[in-house]
Amino acid sequence: MIVRYGAMLFGTVVIVQFYLAGAGIFAATGPVKDASSLDPHRVLGNVLAVLALLLLIATVVARPGRRVMITVIVLFVLTAVEGLLATAGGSAPYVGALHPVVAAVILGLTALVPIWVPRNGKA
Ligand code: HEM
Repeated sequence: MIVRYGAMLFGTVVIVQFYLAGAGIFAATGPVKDASSLDPHRVLGNVLAVLALLLLIATVVARPGRRVMITVIVLFVLTAVEGLLATAGGSAPYVGALHPVVAAVILGLTALVPIWVPRNGKA
């Protein structure tokens, strides 16, 4: 239950994070990397890293099976990497461009967890 609904909550927050990225970019009045309009996105990015860690801990405790465990580990690592990619984007734009791509992968992986963990399962 906790892994299934935790992943669904995580995915919902990722969608909000996409919105905050768009809002921050469209509302920027100067260079995007200095834009304070992206601060809510930056803050939620760190919240997501904490949520990914909590989801990982819940998954280790619930032991929902190998493929869910691997998916959540990858989810956690990619979410942590997101901050690094965004920071790298300041000096290496083609590396920074991987930031939204990885975000799309994170969203896709998040959707797999509730498909694989049954509604009435223990995880
Ligand atoms: C899982 C989804 C995402 C996470 C966890 C995430 C996380 C973060 C974090 C932590 C930062 C702050 C980095 C720093 O200042 O050190 C950031 C910045 C940023 N993100 Fe995201 N992000 C996500 C999705 C997206 C998407 C879809 C876009 C779309 C373009 C985007 C665009 C940006 C931009 C433009 C910045 C500012 C970069 C800068 O300050 O130079 N992010 N993100």
